[in-house]
Amino acid sequence: MRPATVGCMGLFQRRSQGRHARGNTPVDPVVPPRPVNPRERAGDAQAVDAKAVATPATQPAQPAQPARPPRQPRPIGPAAAATRDLTKIYGQGDAEVRALDGVSIDFEQGRFTAVMGPSGSGKSTLMHCAAGLDAPTAGEVRIGDVEIGALKDKDLTELRRDRVGFIFQAFNLIPTLTAHENITLPVAIAGRQPDQEWYDTVIDTVGLRDRLEHKPSELSGGQQQRVACARALVSKPQIIFADEPTGNLDSTSGAEVLGFLRRSVDEFEQTIVMVTHDAVAASYTDRVVFLADGQIVDELLEPTREEVLRTMAHLDETVRARRVGATATGV
Ligand SMILES: Nc1ncnc2c1ncn2[C@@H]1O[C@H](COP(=O)(O)OP(=O)(O)OP(=O)(O)O)[C@@H](O)[C@H]1O
Ligand SMILES: [Mg+2]
Repeated sequence: MRPATVGCMGLFQRRSQGRHARGNTPVDPVVPPRPVNPRERAGDAQAVDAKAVATPATQPAQPAQPARPPRQPRPIGPAAAATRDLTKIYGQGDAEVRALDGVSIDFEQGRFTAVMGPSGSGKSTLMHCAAGLDAPTAGEVRIGDVEIGALKDKDLTELRRDRVGFIFQAFNLIPTLTAHENITLPVAIAGRQPDQEWYDTVIDTVGLRDRLEHKPSELSGGQQQRVACARALVSKPQIIFADEPTGNLDSTSGAEVLGFLRRSVDEFEQTIVMVTHDAVAASYTDRVVFLADGQIVDELLEPTREEVLRTMAHLDETVRARRVGATATGV
């Protein structure tokens, strides 16, 4: 089977928009950083929406007015996690589902990546396999320099606990524990004390200082999700995977969480991979990877909401073109 990395090249070359990646992942090892679109980095969904109204989707996007100084360009680091020819097949025979079909991707350190695609395209499966929560049928997953397929269960559990953070759509907080206890639980399970200075930084960044003694049921949805974000961050994981972290939130709470995730990348050089269906959420990230039928079919760098919407609108066409190309080349 042809890995997705090869299949995307022709696709990217056909595109004229400069911000589409010029090759699929693993992308150019050092993608030249560009000044960000500050309105979309400001955690202000309203500003993004206002731009959308002023700029119809069919028109080229107008340059945005800076609302704050652009982020300092920072070199993209080596991969915090990577997959090679990752394949996941559920079921057998007629019931077989190829949820992932040869996905090769690098998640570079200090980068915020969104994973988008239609329902059933394999986004959650990719996150679970890349985070070591689920075993692939074939292919490799690396967290840092460790190939996790080679690990024994105990070592994998430890690696996941020490190096990977996960934020779920449904928060997954323990209802009987306070926010503070939920946040420090993974570190406590590991038998460690949280680094107090880092804990304070995280708490102040998520803005939960005055809610720490409350149980999840006493917190708003946005606050609960920020607790889940803090829990993922407090152990300083190498990479955080977030599966639709704003899917259950209203737009204000969603913007709070996205603003926080953005800051943790900008200020703490955290690496984050986030599944989302929302073009505004995707515009907070540095890169959007599009999945369809378990394959990577497109990619945007420094995405704007409009570019994401345009790419999503053309995804069916893109997938059809790939299928025709694959048939023509007999792959
Ligand atoms: N445990 C499972 N057993 C059988 N099939 C599964 C299982 N988990 C996922 N699938 C199938 O694998 C495919 C990919 O599922 P996945 O959950 O990764 O999609 P997704 O892109 O996250 O979709 P959504 O946007 O709806 O969350 C789907 O066809 C799904 O039905
Ligand atoms: Mg999913």
